[in-house]
Amino acid sequence: MSHLSIGVVLLVLAFTPALSELCNPQDKKVLLQIKKELGNPSNLSSWNPTTDCCDNNWEGVTCGAQDQSYRVYVLDLTDVYLPKPHPIPPSIGNLPYLKMLRFNMIPNMVGTIPPIIAKLTNLRSLSITYTSISGQIPLFLSQMKTLESIDFSYNKLSGNLPHWLPSLPNIFSLSLDRNRFSGPIPDSFGSFPEGFTYLTLSGNRLTGNIPATLAKLDLKIVDLSKNMLEGDASLLFGSAKHTERIYLANNRFSFDLGKVGLSKILMILDVSHNRLYGTLPKRLPSLKHLIWLDVSYNNLCGEIPQGGNMKDISDSAYAHNNCLCGSPLPTCKRF
Ligand SMILES: *[C@@H]1O[C@H](CO)[C@@H](O)[C@H](O)[C@H]1NC(C)=O
Repeated sequence: MSHLSIGVVLLVLAFTPALSELCNPQDKKVLLQIKKELGNPSNLSSWNPTTDCCDNNWEGVTCGAQDQSYRVYVLDLTDVYLPKPHPIPPSIGNLPYLKMLRFNMIPNMVGTIPPIIAKLTNLRSLSITYTSISGQIPLFLSQMKTLESIDFSYNKLSGNLPHWLPSLPNIFSLSLDRNRFSGPIPDSFGSFPEGFTYLTLSGNRLTGNIPATLAKLDLKIVDLSKNMLEGDASLLFGSAKHTERIYLANNRFSFDLGKVGLSKILMILDVSHNRLYGTLPKRLPSLKHLIWLDVSYNNLCGEIPQGGNMKDISDSAYAHNNCLCGSPLPTCKRF
């Protein structure tokens, strides 16, 4: 090879990285704008304009093949330290192929959920957690028919739970724990689409009875703990359901626990700190997957059913009831 052709080869190699960059130039521009809107946080120093945003080195950025090019599919900003308060960056609306958006553990992220989010017409998963975002759940989310999963836990959101949430046709998971939501659980919450399996609303200021319509839901995980809910929650139970975890602790629920049907795959049942009465369900020992039970601080009575995984449940799980008895508590008095 002549010196000239070696020179040409070297020249081509020198330019190859730039030519083969996967990152869509428009997406790159938007990401750099987002970084600027967040005040150039040091956690995003990997967002370097001279490198490929799709080479897996840009913190929290994941791309996917779209037609002939690559587009940003996932933006997951977790534990980004912002020295000063910033709202959700408005340029986020200009990543049209985004499927998953996550702002997590950003205490200095403030303001409300901006309407610009509605421009993300491919978004399936929206997660804003452990931030200082406030205000209500905005109505424009009801137009985002692609949404499958909403997680707004650990923020400062308030207002009533929107009645329209179950009208999202693809939603299967809703988490609104640890905010300031108040008022009742809407009647419409019984009409989530088929496949809806994950509902967690713990640590809010929800009041009133659980609507009877919720009996229709077959939830895998339900967490309503730490609210001010009252009345009958037995309709959440059912022996034909596929429930794995039920958390109802720290409310004012009042129903006969001995009469509930238990899902065969139940792993966790926490109904502590309520006003439950009756006995413990006789079928508890037949639950092969049961690993956690807490019925403490209720008005339960009668013999603790023995056998199966019940041997691994400690006595504190039964504390502060009316007259529960039998292992691990003292033996029942026979008359
Ligand atoms: C972001 O930066 C802060 C300090 O500036 C650091 O404590 C934190 O671990 C960083 N987060 C990540 C995900 O690297």
